[in-house]
Amino acid sequence: MEDIEICHCNNIMKSEIVKAIREKGLSTVEHVQEATTAGTVCEGCIPDIEDILNEVNPG
Ligand code: FES
Repeated sequence: MEDIEICHCNNIMKSEIVKAIREKGLSTVEHVQEATTAGTVCEGCIPDIEDILNEVNPG
């Protein structure tokens, strides 16, 4: 998987978000915000966080 910066406000990489989702069983954007701080500033990366949640938690 290509690692890219998802949240530019807080410099959070995709790999960090995926790891948090897997290790902590996160299922919502709010969980990801609490666990990683991604998506907590301008909120512009929230659609990307949703895509990652769908990718890691299919169905
Ligand atoms: S890019 Fe993630 S909160 Fe701004």
